[in-house]
Amino acid sequence: MAALLEIRDLEVDLFTRRGVLRAIDRFSLTVQHGETLGLVGESGCGKSMTSLAIMGLLPVPPAKITGGAILLEGRDLTKLSDSKMQAVRGREVGIIFQDPMSSLNPVYTVGDQLVEAIRCHFKLDRRAAAKRALDLLDRVHIPDARRRLDAYPHELSGGMNQRVVIAMAIACEPKLLIADEPTTALDVTIQAQIIELLKEIQRESRMGMVFITHDLGVIADVADRVTVMYAGKKAEEAPVDVLFDDPRHPYTRGLIGATPKPGDERRHRLVEIPGTVPGLASRPKGCAFANRCPLVFERCHVEAPALVHQAEGHAAACFLADQMEDCDVASVGA
Ligand SMILES: Nc1ncnc2c1ncn2[C@@H]1O[C@H](COP(=O)(O)OP(=O)(O)OP(=O)(O)O)[C@@H](O)[C@H]1O
Ligand SMILES: [Mg+2]
Repeated sequence: MAALLEIRDLEVDLFTRRGVLRAIDRFSLTVQHGETLGLVGESGCGKSMTSLAIMGLLPVPPAKITGGAILLEGRDLTKLSDSKMQAVRGREVGIIFQDPMSSLNPVYTVGDQLVEAIRCHFKLDRRAAAKRALDLLDRVHIPDARRRLDAYPHELSGGMNQRVVIAMAIACEPKLLIADEPTTALDVTIQAQIIELLKEIQRESRMGMVFITHDLGVIADVADRVTVMYAGKKAEEAPVDVLFDDPRHPYTRGLIGATPKPGDERRHRLVEIPGTVPGLASRPKGCAFANRCPLVFERCHVEAPALVHQAEGHAAACFLADQMEDCDVASVGA
């Protein structure tokens, strides 16, 4: 059976006045039915570009898919017409963004927006759609749901609005949900509640999920497997336990070092990998992580490492992947 989602060697270029810049570079990932894939990487790595590419929502121009395929149950979404893609959005693939207000219309009530989302894909009369809207608000645990149907987004808190957005995203029971930093804009307690809600929905519906975040702590909590992205490429992929127990890419090691464990006093301290992700215009010919890597050697500057297979479902794009246990990189990011 085909994977729920398979991105194969995706290339996204940005056509700018400064020339053609490659934002996504032969990037691949897969998500199985019912599985949560964590997609992690620092700001500017290309996570949102990837999610927009899946949804057919890339800003064209400047962006354009110039290579590869995005297969949803074997069907290449990059080949679909706009109208076919519109039918896929919402009905088969749902998306939640960081800021709930970017998905909600301030001039319509929550109920009207939900009913609209439902009727867009299902032939239901208004009454039946309104009943379903109410059920959905219950499903995302919005208290006093009947009254909230008549509320406008500005009358609700950020956490409540994100619940409404989740209700809209799952209104048509999509097979795949893309959650692009869905909790980053919320405070910590609300974050945990929203993550719990997404896990619950996923358990009940066997929906596949791509959960995008720069927070490995969240990944440990939600993901079955993880793809680590760096500068538009895959740095490492592994089942979630393997990634934390036996990371093979110095970048992954750095990210893990930068993740405070619960109760860790570093929670209150910002720990980061020194340096930043190179901008699109200054991506080097060799390994993009070379200028920040504690294990860098000459070859890294001239040649980009290919993915090295480690074990079933585990690969890392580093020349030293096989020797990582022997390398002292405990200090990366510490
Ligand atoms: N419309 C655009 N025009 C030009 N460059 C863009 C555009 N959108 C994104 N980029 C660039 O593409 C790269 C990838 O951006 P993307 O938004 O996918 O990163 P991200 O991993 O989602 O980061 P974040 O964690 O900050 O959301 C970045 O270098 C960004 O500056
Ligand atoms: Mg983003």
